[in-house]
Formats: sequence, C-alpha cells, structure tokens
Amino acid sequence: MRFAHEGEAGLYFAIGRVSRYDASMTEPTPKPGILDIELYVGGRSSAPGAAKVYKLSSNESALGPSPAAMAALAAAAQDLQLYPDGSSRLLREAIGKVHDLDPARIMVGGEGSGPLLTMIANAYLMPGDEAIFSRHAFLIYEIATRANAARPVIVAEKVTNSGIRIDVDAMLASVTAKTRIVYIANPNNPTGSYLTRDEMKKLHAGLPAHVLLVIDAAYGEFVDAADYDTGLELARAHDNVAMTRTFSKIHGLAALRLGWAYVPQAVADVLNRIRGPFPTSPLQQQAGAAAIADQAHVARAAAHNAKWRKWLTQEIRALGLKVDDSVANFVLIHFPSGPKDAKAADAFLIARGVILRGVGAYGLPDCLRLTVGTEEANRAAVAALKDFIAQ
Ligand SMILES: Cc1ncc(COP(=O)(O)O)c(C=O)c1O
Repeated sequence: MRFAHEGEAGLYFAIGRVSRYDASMTEPTPKPGILDIELYVGGRSSAPGAAKVYKLSSNESALGPSPAAMAALAAAAQDLQLYPDGSSRLLREAIGKVHDLDPARIMVGGEGSGPLLTMIANAYLMPGDEAIFSRHAFLIYEIATRANAARPVIVAEKVTNSGIRIDVDAMLASVTAKTRIVYIANPNNPTGSYLTRDEMKKLHAGLPAHVLLVIDAAYGEFVDAADYDTGLELARAHDNVAMTRTFSKIHGLAALRLGWAYVPQAVADVLNRIRGPFPTSPLQQQAGAAAIADQAHVARAAAHNAKWRKWLTQEIRALGLKVDDSVANFVLIHFPSGPKDAKAADAFLIARGVILRGVGAYGLPDCLRLTVGTEEANRAAVAALKDFIAQ
C-alpha cells in the first residue's frame, strides 16, 4: 500500500523517528510532539465578587492606545467590504520610517508577535532539530518547537542578587550540531531581567552562522538602561538574527493582535512564502501605522511605566517581599513557603479585585507577576499586598 505522503513519512524514517503512518492507527493522529504541549493559558481577567477589578495579569498598557490609533481604527472600519493590501505596505513603511529599517525585511503578523515566533519555527525546524531557550522563558518558544517535532533545549538561568538572568555561557554550551534556533526574550517575561548589548553580542558571536538568533523584544520600549539594545543593531548587521516586536504592550493595542519582526532578507523571502495571503486587516494596518507614528504617546507610556515600576518595587520590598529588578512593565514578586505563599497571596488579592499572574507554568511557582498599572491600580495592589502580609 502506498501513502499519499510517502515522501514525508520517509523523511521521518530517515531521521530515526517512527513514521506516523502506522497501520495500527485508528484515528486522525497529530504530528509527534503536539500532544506533549501544555495548553497556553493567558492571564486571568475576572475576580468574582470584587466590587472593582484591577487586571494586572497580562502586561497590558496602563495608558491604553494612542488617540491617533483609535481615530485611524474608526476611519478604517468604514471599508470592511474590501480585502486588505496583502503586503501590508503602509504598516511596514510606517514601522520602517520610525525605526529606520528596510520595509522589505519587515514581517507583520495579524495575530500578534506570538504567531511570528511560531512561523519562524515552522520554517526552520525539522523533526529532531533543536531550539534553545531559557528555563523561565515565554511559553510560546516551547510550543512552537514541539509543534514542529523538534527538541526544546531548556537552559537554566543564573540567580543573582538583582534577579534571575539568562546565562549566556550556558546557552552557548548547549549548542549542538542539531541547533537551529536560539530564542531570547529581551527583556524576559516573566523575570523582567535583560541581557546587555554586549552579552547579546557575545551570544551571537558564539553561534554558528546557520543558527538563527531570535530576539523577542516585546517589552523593548520600556527599557531605560543605557547598555540595552532591542536587537535591531544585531539584526541590521547579520544574516542570522531576527527581532520580533508587538503592538500589544507599550502601544496598548493587545486586542488588535498585531506584531512585527525585522528579519534578514533571506528569512523574509522564506516567511513570505508560508504566511497567509492577508496577514493583517486594514484596521490593523491603519491603527498600527498611526500608533507607531505617535512616538510622543510611546514616550508617555514609558515614563509612566518607569515611575510606577520603581514605586511598586520599593513599596513591595518595604513589605518584606523579594522583588527582582525589572526593566519591563511588570515585576516578579517572590513569596515565602508556608501560609503566606504565592498561592495564598493570589487568592487574597483576587478576593480584593487585584488580579496578578501566577507563573507556575513558567517554572516559578513561588512567584506572582504584577503588571505596572494606572496609579489607582498600583496603589490598590500595594494596599492589598500590605493587608495580606499583615493578616
Ligand atoms: C516575551 C513575550 N513575547 C511575545 C509576546 C506576544 O505578544 P503578542 O502575541 O500579543 O504580540 C508576549 C506576550 O505576553 C511576551 O510576553
């Protein structure tokens, strides 16, 4: 008997995997690896019974979107009968103008930056290949790797006085002949720490030329450290560096589901072949272009974040809790074991309408992640934590 996909089945055999076209199969069977994926669960958004709810669980913007983006969205909604421009030229040119980038190397994603990270894996990972990322990294890297029957190589971070930091030497020591992608979130979610420009350069310099370094700078605009770079410096200069960004965080457009990436021209040529024909809607194109052009709004959001991130860090440390240094729009709070542990804190805060993010799925069951919110939300969070500690 011959199978329609015999070539593909042969490929699985060739690399030492059992063919998924097995005569004993009695039902549609997914690719190997997919059923090993834990379902991604987003931040909680409800606090039943609480009079007022402060959602500080998903690293959303405290200020919301630029008014210019909202006006552009409303205007774009007038022509919903028309197909969009499949090349998303207006948006890519707007991004290119603000960041001085070649629009031909910009990919945009109409489901946020998460699916762009996945699309890179879909294009570059074969079954048996390896992708490296850190233990407490954004969950999508593991999902994208497993979805391609590739092997996640998970590298422990270093625990330092300032927090949990990616270990560049350990990452480099994990590279093998099978490595195809290294994913780094910079800054990292949920730790809030970052690699300096020099550390990232060292990581890149140690990688073989065929390994793609994917720098996920979803929170890059919030960083005010002078020794930080979003990854654009490396991405401009090298054929094996891609950088991803999102409109969900500093631009306050999480509901719009829009992300972008700056990739080498050869990678753009590959991704353009497998992307959907209309990756972004006119609403996304117009609102995204207006949002990125409004750099005054971006600066306001970054200033608000820096002020309140510092305040939250100081106030929560003053309660006796360990808070890691963060450069992003959230802080990671450590709780002791016993009756005042992270689980008890989470339950107490939810009853008060303050929703934080449990990060057990990120390997940090003793921590909660708190997003920097409005002044009112930040004060409510600290007051609730204070009462939790005092009870
Ligand atoms: C590190 C990191 N990368 C990427 C994303 C994806 O954001 P989006 O898909 O909304 O663009 C997130 C969202 O939480 C994130 O934390």
